[in-house]
Amino acid sequence: MTLAELENSKAQSLVEIAAAGDASAIEALRVKYVGRNGSIPALIKGMKDVPKEERPAFGKAVQAWRAEVEAALAAKGAGAGAEKGVEADLTLPGRWFALGAKHPLSRVIEETARIFGRLGFTVADGPELENRFNNFTALNTPPHHPSMDRSDTFWFDGDTLLRTQTSPVQIRTMMANKPPIRVICPGRTYRRDTTDATHSANFHQIEGLYVDTKPVSLADLKSVLAYFAHEMMGDGVTVRFRPHFFPFTEPSVEVDFSCHLCKGKGCRVCKDSGWIEVAGAGMVDPRVFKHVGYDHEKVSGYAFGFGVERIAMIKYGIPDIRWLYENDVRFLGQLA
Ligand code: DAH
Repeated sequence: MTLAELENSKAQSLVEIAAAGDASAIEALRVKYVGRNGSIPALIKGMKDVPKEERPAFGKAVQAWRAEVEAALAAKGAGAGAEKGVEADLTLPGRWFALGAKHPLSRVIEETARIFGRLGFTVADGPELENRFNNFTALNTPPHHPSMDRSDTFWFDGDTLLRTQTSPVQIRTMMANKPPIRVICPGRTYRRDTTDATHSANFHQIEGLYVDTKPVSLADLKSVLAYFAHEMMGDGVTVRFRPHFFPFTEPSVEVDFSCHLCKGKGCRVCKDSGWIEVAGAGMVDPRVFKHVGYDHEKVSGYAFGFGVERIAMIKYGIPDIRWLYENDVRFLGQLA
């Protein structure tokens, strides 16, 4: 091959590569020009037959051809893989990106808001840093009550504290609005508890409050909580009330859900009782209405409060409250 012929072949090869329409055409050209038995390696092997004085120029031209062909092939996407005979396998699964999952506490809060939303309740909010009046006094908590003690409450000064319950949002909501009121108030609460499997110094509650100028009764409270139990824990779950005491409700009750696992027959989770304690509730005490400036002769209402962690733990079978705060994706991912 003369130098002129070489230049011709080179131009021809570059045109062919430029025109190659798909991966197999490109691969065929790679084999044809630079493959082990391709035309360029053949020229290199044949160099010994080229007259000595022409060899340097010819050798240079061949190397230049090779470089241009390789560059043109690379530009067309013939990769190093093709060089080794490895082709991209288009049937391989794509790359997976780990998707986050909603935290169990967020799930319970959102689900609760949805359930009560269907009953006409809206979501109210309040600050975690509260004052004595909203957290205790207006809720009819007497000054000597143990919950106010330094060992039970995080105080900043004599008047400012981290709220120990979501009940102060009741006070804020009533002071800012006239009845009828129908709210739930989810949020963080704080107590000086030492942390163990069932206690944490920082936990979450959801408060509920319904106040109206028409008579509201304990039966209304029970029907609403029964609906909530059924929607949150599943078919057949019912509620029962047990008498109790809270300063801000009269009468007061503790609310149990029938055990969703054994359907009330008795199991390890409900400690063989068939019932699981979930909430405190009652009819709003007239003194609370007085504190917020309502006429207690004209309004009545009920209130309730429950722990979000507790609902999450029984609903999802979580044995240790600390799992909810450790941010371990092996745990969190299971509820995705
Ligand atoms: N605030 C109470 C607590 O922290 C829970 C509670 C009980 C809220 C009865 C209420 C209620 O609104 O009526 O344990």
